[in-house]
Amino acid sequence: MGNAKLEAWVAEVAALCRPDRVHWCDGSQAEHDEMIRLLVHAGTATPLDEARRPGSVLVRSHPADVARVEDRTFICSARPEDAGPTNNWADPAEMKATLRGLFDGAMAGRTMYVIPYSMGPVGSPIANIGVEVTDSPYVVANMHLMTRVGARVLDALGAEGEFVRGLHSVGMPLGPSDPDVPWPHNLEHKYITHFPDTREIWSFGSGYGGNALLGKKCHALRIASVQARDEGWLAEHMLILKLTNPEGRAHYITGAFPSACGKTNLAMLQPTLPGWKVETIGDDIAWMKLDADGRLRAINPEAGFFGVAPGTSMGSNPSAIRTLSRDVIYTNCAVTADGDAWWEGMTDETPGGMTDWLRRSHAPGGTRKAAHPNARFTVAASQCPVIAPEWEDPEGVPIDAILFGGRRGSTIPLVTEAFDWTHGTFMGATAGSETTAAAVGAVGQLRRDPMAMLPFCGYNMADYWGHWLSFEGRTQPSKLPLVFFVNWFRKGADGKFLWPGFGENSRVLRWVAERIEGSGEAVDTPIGRLPAPGALDTSGLSLRDGALDELLAVDVAGWLDEVGLIREHFARFGDRLPSPLADCVDQLEARLRAAGAPTGVA
Ligand code: GTP
Ligand code: SPV
Ligand code: MN
Repeated sequence: MGNAKLEAWVAEVAALCRPDRVHWCDGSQAEHDEMIRLLVHAGTATPLDEARRPGSVLVRSHPADVARVEDRTFICSARPEDAGPTNNWADPAEMKATLRGLFDGAMAGRTMYVIPYSMGPVGSPIANIGVEVTDSPYVVANMHLMTRVGARVLDALGAEGEFVRGLHSVGMPLGPSDPDVPWPHNLEHKYITHFPDTREIWSFGSGYGGNALLGKKCHALRIASVQARDEGWLAEHMLILKLTNPEGRAHYITGAFPSACGKTNLAMLQPTLPGWKVETIGDDIAWMKLDADGRLRAINPEAGFFGVAPGTSMGSNPSAIRTLSRDVIYTNCAVTADGDAWWEGMTDETPGGMTDWLRRSHAPGGTRKAAHPNARFTVAASQCPVIAPEWEDPEGVPIDAILFGGRRGSTIPLVTEAFDWTHGTFMGATAGSETTAAAVGAVGQLRRDPMAMLPFCGYNMADYWGHWLSFEGRTQPSKLPLVFFVNWFRKGADGKFLWPGFGENSRVLRWVAERIEGSGEAVDTPIGRLPAPGALDTSGLSLRDGALDELLAVDVAGWLDEVGLIREHFARFGDRLPSPLADCVDQLEARLRAAGAPTGVA
């Protein structure tokens, strides 16, 4: 017995888009193999060497379709103030009219795939069902890996169940004698639109990543953040990890860092501290709900990783490299002479004889990059050698600590603990980070990226902060996670990173675990609690002279500048800004001024 609302909606969008045929996806291996076969046949994908990279392909996109397009992403809520100053707002009726025009006949000459998917383990009380309709077999193949697809999802949906509706087209209809191209997309019109009131997503013109795999950012963050506000939970751009100490005691930690700022790496970290273990629950998105005991429990709504390839190596992230041993879709990587994928930072030496992501022969030593900086791998999470046994627990895992972070070359210390939940919310709300290649636009520019949700919050960011603050009243504050701010990206005067990062971040995780357990020592400073002298385990670590002092100092002058930037940031929200956050910035400034001479106090 089908779901009448689903059948009616599919009939309606098929009538609008007029595909040659409609295919209902069952998520089977045979279906996945068929999608890959179609991609290879169309020249979209190239099989990699079967001995080196079994079951894997390399896909190369059009150079104008390589990342999320934030300036073409819209929140179409009833009123502009519901979207807030950080989102592009459009009137829902006007946007629908524009999109109906674009989608009219948009799938001519193509197959329309109907993908019923579950974000989260099928049947979990925290999970949510969506259906993506798309004309891209690349999207189908990626959704197979990134979400749970198929008949069991339709069973869970039942005859009456509600679902998020996602309509996607690459926006390139084909006439009867038009040849297809390897990467169909629409150069002129790209729209990634969200209708939070009706839980709909309409995405047109891009086939790449978060623009097109609608379960990910569009559903699991932009639409889900609105559902979470309405229902009293949190949908966040966070990794989830399990940290086990040498005595075998485990803690679950989430981390919100902006795109390409280290979530996948931290989630799979191989600790350099003996006896410590990190296992992965998720690397990009966390849905968190209060349980009957009043604790926040998190699930990873995804089933795979769509990870940044450049920089991933046996040195930086061996668990990711091992995850990639087979059945991977690589996108915009280079290919070696012997048919394997390659990217900058994978090996010390750049191999000769490669073909770059634009299908040109690659000359090592030149200035051209062989892989696009936002090249990605798509792979099932179950292949990760350090996936936690409980990663699919439908009840989720109880969260002990939340890390916020960003890419900050100066001012922000390696780690700071918030005084309390409100101060932690303030830390998240004021997070700044330098932009990366994960979105189209300039790279390396400092911007505020609150809770790493700037591109992903589906409603007014000030209301979202209010929602975060409300958790102090929804449970006993002592049951809420501790909150920390971390920065792996501080640079010295020579422009080099002061902190080695990657596996060495386990030293910071150790201090976090000790703070959770009450044994770790901290000192109160104007900006929060910093590790007391000697409290951060630096045994066996060789840092440059003075680096640790710099990493753990409070740069009062730098922070007073930061206060100015925070005030500008908050001013954008007018009287919608929750007053506890306005109080936090006043208190921060007062504490900094009381700390006196702007030379540093730690
Ligand atoms: P999205 O998938 O875009 O959300 O990114 P992410 O947050 O998962 O970032 P990821 O872990 O893929 O890291 C992005 C880039 O940052 C890679 O090139 C990494 O090599 C680099 N990186 C990650 N962790 C560290 C670190 O601790 N130190 C330094 N210096 N670089 C890091
Ligand atoms: C990000 O940009 O944060 C990503 C990649 O995780 S994408 O799925 O393209 O949004
Ligand atoms: Mn991300």
